[in-house]
Amino acid sequence: MGRKPKEDVNRPIMVGLVGAGGMAKYHVAGFRKAGAEVVAIADPDADAAERAAAKFDVTQVYDSLEDMLAQTKMDAVSILTPNKFHCPLVLQALKAGKHVFCEKPPAINAKEAAQMARVAKDKRRVLMFDFNNRARPEAMAMKAAIARGDAGRINSMQALWVRRTGIPGFGGWFTTKALSGGGPVIDLLHMIDLGLHFMGYPEARYVLAATYRDLITDKRFKGPWGIPDKVGGTCDVEAAANGLVLFKNGATLYLRTSWAEMNKREEVSVTFQGTKAGGLVRRLFAADGIDATAEDLCEMYFQDAAGNNADKVISTVKDKEMGRVRSAENFILTLQKKEKPLNTPDEAVKLMKIIDAIYASAKTGAPVRVR
Ligand SMILES: NC(=O)c1ccc[n+]([C@@H]2O[C@H](COP(=O)([O-])OP(=O)(O)OC[C@H]3O[C@@H](n4cnc5c(N)ncnc54)[C@H](O)[C@@H]3O)[C@@H](O)[C@H]2O)c1
Repeated sequence: MGRKPKEDVNRPIMVGLVGAGGMAKYHVAGFRKAGAEVVAIADPDADAAERAAAKFDVTQVYDSLEDMLAQTKMDAVSILTPNKFHCPLVLQALKAGKHVFCEKPPAINAKEAAQMARVAKDKRRVLMFDFNNRARPEAMAMKAAIARGDAGRINSMQALWVRRTGIPGFGGWFTTKALSGGGPVIDLLHMIDLGLHFMGYPEARYVLAATYRDLITDKRFKGPWGIPDKVGGTCDVEAAANGLVLFKNGATLYLRTSWAEMNKREEVSVTFQGTKAGGLVRRLFAADGIDATAEDLCEMYFQDAAGNNADKVISTVKDKEMGRVRSAENFILTLQKKEKPLNTPDEAVKLMKIIDAIYASAKTGAPVRVR
């Protein structure tokens, strides 16, 4: 019997993409930046798959993950489909022995996220999610300052992602709860995640929240990304939400999120109050949803020995793409053991428990215990 030829340990990591939509360009750019090869694209929409393959110069095109795994050799899979398909596709890829990078939200609920975390552990594969806001230069600088102890103990946080005109089309998968898991609470969960990341992911105890649907079918509040409306489609998700999370360590996180609300403009921010310093990481948009119009700010609030305000602006390079390329790059650098993962499956489970509790509290009108 002949010996199996040895694997070239220095060959590039090979990745297959599942979903050829709007996020593909960031995944491709980030993977390639870290030296990986994008070897295949799978999407049941043949036109979308062919268009993306031509745009990104990828030769292997499939209509399902199953065919892609059967016919092309790869080390990792990235999942960028509507949210409902994250869990089954992630499980399928992990069970085939692939490392997985999956778009946010991790899943449509905590039960699914826990199952994904369990299988990743059993199969000893890397599972990461695209919490790209953690990869923004401002977020990385703030996380480093907090980790150094500059802020002291953080008592409270305010996490906002509020839009004025940001409904991602009417009737498509985003506004159909069965496909998306919900509206802005689950879609814009980034700032809740970033607040938890800054605090070291404490365990939540209670959530009290309310959601509002008032503007969810109002055509004046559509976002600017050209997402088509689906005639006769469903709009059964919230347009806005407010809530409070109380953690087991006594800290609190106030959250506000909306796709459509009477705000001045789109704001994406985490503010916090620590025992030594407060801080803010913020993106303000001149035009809702258009990254090129955004202004970023990262600053900390100190009190000097004489009792004067000694505030500090932390200047970082501008990243118009909000860490979307850097986050995909971190996945490959993690596989290459050159960087630590920016997030873990256990954190995804904790986050999804909070998201579930927000919806449960909004439904019952009562605080929900998080377990
Ligand atoms: N991190 C971010 O900043 C960010 C921004 C936007 C969207 N997202 C997330 O990215 C994901 C995709 O969003 P999008 O805007 O690219 O969506 P999209 O609607 O533009 O594209 C989704 C693609 O997935 C395909 N698809 C559906 N089912 C599939 C399956 N079973 N196998 C393979 N492909 C399938 C569709 O045909 C479509 O081409 C969502 O989870 C969304 O929440 C993340």
